[in-house]
Amino acid sequence: MIRIGLLGLGRISHKIAKTLTKLNSPELILYACGSRELSKAEDFKNKYHLEKAYGSYEELCKDENIDLIYVATPHVFHHDNVILALENNKHVLVEKPMCVSLKEGEELFSLAKEKHLLLQEAFWTRFTPSYSYLKQLIDLKPLGNILSVDASFGLYLENKSRMVSKALGGGVLLDIGVYPLNMLLGILGKNYSIQAVNFSPYKGDSSIDENDQLLISFNDIPCKITISMNQYIKDEAIITCEHGTIILDRNNLVKKIHLKAKNISKTFKFKEIVNGYECQFLKMNQAIKDNSPLDEMSRDDSLTLLRLLDDIRNFNKKQNS
Ligand SMILES: NC(=O)c1ccc[n+]([C@@H]2O[C@H](COP(=O)([O-])OP(=O)(O)OC[C@H]3O[C@@H](n4cnc5c(N)ncnc54)[C@H](OP(=O)(O)O)[C@@H]3O)[C@@H](O)[C@H]2O)c1
Repeated sequence: MIRIGLLGLGRISHKIAKTLTKLNSPELILYACGSRELSKAEDFKNKYHLEKAYGSYEELCKDENIDLIYVATPHVFHHDNVILALENNKHVLVEKPMCVSLKEGEELFSLAKEKHLLLQEAFWTRFTPSYSYLKQLIDLKPLGNILSVDASFGLYLENKSRMVSKALGGGVLLDIGVYPLNMLLGILGKNYSIQAVNFSPYKGDSSIDENDQLLISFNDIPCKITISMNQYIKDEAIITCEHGTIILDRNNLVKKIHLKAKNISKTFKFKEIVNGYECQFLKMNQAIKDNSPLDEMSRDDSLTLLRLLDDIRNFNKKQNS
């Protein structure tokens, strides 16, 4: 059994509190929450029947009854928030992306190692049964070798203040882009080569990317990735293989996988216990019991993703200099 403290009480923390309340597992106790405002923390505590509410992240992290801190602030604060939790001897589950550069990520894992604590990126989709199934299916090559992938995902998010603020880590790459990129790293492999990066700037601040088109090969398989935070684009990945096509209905939580070929039309459907967010907490509970990090989204996986995000942004800068 673990007692969980939620740090930063925005949209995703509400979603997690609802999910864990619905799951109602005796292994996962929603114990405390911490906000920059005590009244906000008190409201959250009352809404989800937590035991403690704190008006600062420091007080939350100092609570000795907490085993795991879940960090859910804008990405630019993850680095400092994770350090605060680790320095107070807490295991950490930190929202995606786990921070905003490879350098920051290396510092965090190094501190976790020094403190003998578990640090896990909350890349929730990697812990779901549908992701394990997808990975096995891709490895089996049911339609022959993969020739190319076309992944797209766009949502209207310009109404979210953190998405359009440079100071809060705004931009589509770090928020939405991580889903197709992490999926491709996971199923195709970690050797990548960037061929083209096309960022179109947000009208309110040209240093923020709002529509990106990326051409990246993963293990020599060419992939086109289209992401947007100012328009709806079908969330889908089309995997062209030698003998047909595999279509994933989503880049984040895959719910349907279609196999289409000359004489084949097959659909695999998946259902989560609640909505899929619970899986990472259930696995983290086990990891803490076993004192063993999770393979589903390992340290190396998180650092590779951070390196790729750095490389994409550097590629874009070089192109424009
Ligand atoms: N896994 C997923 O599906 C998923 C979905 C959405 C977001 N996320 C990730 O979760 C993180 C948070 O996203 P969100 O959508 O929940 O964000 P949000 O609604 O903007 O909430 C972020 C929270 O961070 C805290 N915060 C601390 N310093 C802040 C500052 N200077 N300005 C604004 N907020 C500040 C605030 O909590 P207090 O006021 O309580 O201190 C705020 O409510 C991001 O890294 C994002 O990528 C993941």
